[in-house]
Amino acid sequence: MFSKTSLLALLPAFAAAAPACGAPQPPPQPGSPSCGSTHPKWTLSPIDLSSYYTYTSPSASGPKLGTISFTFANDQVDYVAECSGSSVNPQGIFYGFETFECATEGGEEWKKTSFSYDTASGVIAVNSTWMCPGGDVVYTTSGSGKPDLECETSVWNNPDWEAGELYSNTTMVCEPGELVIQL
Ligand SMILES: *[C@@H]1O[C@H](CO)[C@@H](O)[C@H](O)[C@H]1NC(C)=O
Ligand SMILES: *[C@@H]1O[C@H](CO)[C@@H](O)[C@H](O)[C@H]1NC(C)=O
Repeated sequence: MFSKTSLLALLPAFAAAAPACGAPQPPPQPGSPSCGSTHPKWTLSPIDLSSYYTYTSPSASGPKLGTISFTFANDQVDYVAECSGSSVNPQGIFYGFETFECATEGGEEWKKTSFSYDTASGVIAVNSTWMCPGGDVVYTTSGSGKPDLECETSVWNNPDWEAGELYSNTTMVCEPGELVIQL
């Protein structure tokens, strides 16, 4: 037969198990997955960045090109955008004021993404216009971030340069990188 003391000792275990059946659900945590403009998470991957530039004499720059590309995913929608841009600026660098349109399958007005890249700061800025599946609100959201890219630069100098030949050639290639922007 149980004594009063041993019955009481059993109670806390019973009480702790009780809330599992039929207790009210706790309120949703901030940032829980529910589609909307509050906390979209953007993933840019793989980010491919490279450039080359040449000199045709010690002082005259020759052909140059910078390229950047990545796939843009927004965790609130089930499609992606393919983004790419190129630069023929000196040394193939990018300026933040140049914007590039990304390609989205069925790219309606409410399905548009654009980006810019600034070589000096290393920042990628993105504007994206989107709608929740089955929703009727069109969001336009801006975000930016700096991917941590590992890049290698190699320089080739023409050992016996003569006028009309390439004087030097500088190539920079980065390992494919990733940027996550949690808005
Ligand atoms: C994003 O939108 C702002 C405001 O319209 C504009 O000034 C900026 O250039 C846009 N940036 C990109 C990357 O499209
Ligand atoms: C630059 O040098 C690389 C490696 O030598 C070569 O593959 C590339 O074609 C050169 N680029 C130009 C524009 O000459």
